[in-house]
Amino acid sequence: MATEIRSAIDFYERHPISAGIIVAKVKAARGHLDNVSPEELFAHDQDHYGGLAANDALAALAKIGDGTRVADFCAGLGGPARYLSARYGADVTGIELTPARVKGAAELTALVSLDTKVRVIEGNVMQVPLPAASVDAVVSQEAFLHVPDKARALAEACRILKPGGRLAFTDWIAHRALSPADADLMWQGMAATNLCDIATYRTLIENAGFTVTSVDDLTAEWAEILKVRLAMYIKLRGETQAAGTVSGHDAFYESYVRFVALVSEGALGGGRFSAVKRG
Ligand SMILES: C[S@@+](CC[C@H](N)C(=O)[O-])C[C@H]1O[C@@H](n2cnc3c(N)ncnc32)[C@H](O)[C@@H]1O
Repeated sequence: MATEIRSAIDFYERHPISAGIIVAKVKAARGHLDNVSPEELFAHDQDHYGGLAANDALAALAKIGDGTRVADFCAGLGGPARYLSARYGADVTGIELTPARVKGAAELTALVSLDTKVRVIEGNVMQVPLPAASVDAVVSQEAFLHVPDKARALAEACRILKPGGRLAFTDWIAHRALSPADADLMWQGMAATNLCDIATYRTLIENAGFTVTSVDDLTAEWAEILKVRLAMYIKLRGETQAAGTVSGHDAFYESYVRFVALVSEGALGGGRFSAVKRG
């Protein structure tokens, strides 16, 4: 378990998108950093497929509105957390493993003056540093792929939710078992561990104390998004190589190319789940 945790942190400590890069882009676009609005970050701070619409889908499923207390599991740089607060008026606590992401999230949240309603705290979703029955909704965008014990993370979501509280998240799905070589590539290049299929996920959610309310297979949608992203990534990589500058992390590139192929073949994909806490 410690190996998976270390690997996720290593991956995100070296991630090409950081708070510093986002701030530099915003500054380059407007010339200064006074009165930056949350909306000005949204093109840069969402680390999942489907952008803001993916957050809206989770918000609808989790019935997030003004004053809803939300925990965002694996919050990253806090993009979805800030969006849920700015767009819906939620009070959001993000739980994030990687210290550099926690620090970056604080910087970006303060920049857009959302720090009274959004905070990203350092923690592991398998042992959440929040009291029992303290939130109305738990959300997570595309991050449980890194979490080795998903049953434990889901049990933690159930513990911190009030009775009748709602869970809504997206994650990678393995529609069929990967070959050992592909599983190793996803692990080495993207820190993906213990992927499961839709039926297994449904059972894990029910066993954690929830009633599943919806399951959406996002694989076809992701296949289209990924084709476009890969083309952009290859173009950028070519440009940086031609310019003689750093071209990116090779293990990531190799696994990303294979990931896109596996999604277009339907071996891997995405799922969106929602559930309500029983009792
Ligand atoms: C793909 S990013 C998604 C970030 C964010 N949900 C978003 O959509 O912008 C995955 C994040 O999960 C975090 N993470 C991985 N394992 C975790 C764990 N066990 N507990 C908390 N965070 C974790 C990583 O550090 C990373 O920031």
